[in-house]
Amino acid sequence: MTRRSALIDTRVIYCGDCLDQLAGLPNHCVDLIYIDPPFNSNRNYEVFWGETKEKRSFEDRHASTQAYIEFMRPRCVQLARVLKETGSFYYHCDWHASHYVKVMLDQIFGENNFQNEIVWKRSTAHTDARQGSKHFGRIHDVLLFYTGGSQDYPWNQLYQPLGEEYIRSHYSQVDEEGRRFQWDNLSGPGAAAKGNPYYEVLGVKGYWRYSKERMDKLIAEGRVAIPSKGATPRYKRYLDESKGLALQSVWDDLPPVNSQARESQGYPTQKPIALLDRIIGASSNPGDIVLDAFCGCGTALISAQNLKRQWIGIDISPTSCRVVANRLRKECALRENEDLWRAGRGFIVRDLPRSEAELRKIPPFEFENWAVIALGGIPNKAQVGDKGIDGRIYPVSAIEHRRDAAQRREREAGARELGFMDQWYPIQVKQKDKTGRPDIDSFEAVMAREDRTKGFFVSFDYSSDALTEIDRYFRKSGNVIVPLTVKEILDEQIAQKLA
Ligand SMILES: C[S@@+](CC[C@H](N)C(=O)[O-])C[C@H]1O[C@@H](n2cnc3c(N)ncnc32)[C@H](O)[C@@H]1O
Repeated sequence: MTRRSALIDTRVIYCGDCLDQLAGLPNHCVDLIYIDPPFNSNRNYEVFWGETKEKRSFEDRHASTQAYIEFMRPRCVQLARVLKETGSFYYHCDWHASHYVKVMLDQIFGENNFQNEIVWKRSTAHTDARQGSKHFGRIHDVLLFYTGGSQDYPWNQLYQPLGEEYIRSHYSQVDEEGRRFQWDNLSGPGAAAKGNPYYEVLGVKGYWRYSKERMDKLIAEGRVAIPSKGATPRYKRYLDESKGLALQSVWDDLPPVNSQARESQGYPTQKPIALLDRIIGASSNPGDIVLDAFCGCGTALISAQNLKRQWIGIDISPTSCRVVANRLRKECALRENEDLWRAGRGFIVRDLPRSEAELRKIPPFEFENWAVIALGGIPNKAQVGDKGIDGRIYPVSAIEHRRDAAQRREREAGARELGFMDQWYPIQVKQKDKTGRPDIDSFEAVMAREDRTKGFFVSFDYSSDALTEIDRYFRKSGNVIVPLTVKEILDEQIAQKLA
């Protein structure tokens, strides 16, 4: 069980602009911040779901870089305020703006608190580097690592396994027991000036890095010897005692999230858990508070939960917040429940849009996702070419049917049963005050094209013409269109209509 901070609530996902949400946190309360903001935030919906046709001119890009920095500056000021002096901060970005971000962060966190520019190689080859493109492939992201001012920040040294080539060239000696080792230098660096002791070791006088007592002990243990006639004494460093190579600032051993991977949520901006495990593992300890103020599908939160840290997530997108909640339930077996949360076990999501007025204000894309997810459906990811379908509902009866089928399949090995995938109802969403007859007409066309007998429509309200048409359509074809209002969804009065 993770403990709750006395100062702030953890295991909370806040839905909203992090500028507003961070204002509610006290000064210096967080141990580790990781952020991975979308490059061009005023179009975050496209970026979150993947920008397909990015082809902007230099002027466009430059203007948007400036806008991006202006957008990020006040948010980073807030982040610096909530970071503890002993805290660490990682900003994940790429070539689009990393150099501008570095200048901004130097101003906010202080140049002296800059620790590393980490290069994460996120792909092996890129279409950028195809024949004909006149630049090198852009295959890495940049992580800028700062600390909060104190030298006393957590640091858990991480190691990488030694490569075969390194082992061959550095651990070339083998002792009588077959253990690989290398001869290491024993002389005191800086000689007398650095206060190294001067004495005789195995007949050789010099400045040494260890005290005479320690050296005598190492000689007695057989760890110090003269490698060859006339050579100076050396230390035997064994391969099987090596932790590996201290991790450096180029990370080329963490592959991106593969679309087929179990952790994949289907979002192009999703970062791999292993990357966040590394950052959180190095820069925090169990019980510390980790904050991701642009949490996307929640990779940092999942990693923090797995590594027994406390966490806070913020994302402006209600869809994103729901994805994180689902992920926490599935991947961490954590329940979204206020009572459990108070008892220190579950998690909660705060500030999701809950009123009709709030839902009128969110962008159409978010509105569609909100409605589809509220109905228990699966949103259509492609926002273009969705052919009039915003989401699909797979009715429970179809899932039951699939279970039966799965059991039958086990019994009748070889029999194929894919019927479940074809049992779905389309959902059409309109963020309109009054859906009219033409909207219903075009949904009927979609139902006919897809050969569906039932479909769901979501809107704020319907004109009487629209409702008459739904009746006429049923009488003529036997097919059902269920008109749902936002109010019904908010009041959760939809259960019978969905049945
Ligand atoms: C690149 S994604 C983060 C992906 C994340 N690292 C992961 O692995 O899933 C950026 C996220 O920032 C969110 N976002 C954009 N503007 C925001 C703001 N002003 N406040 C909070 N979140 C914001 C977007 O909705 C998006 O989910």
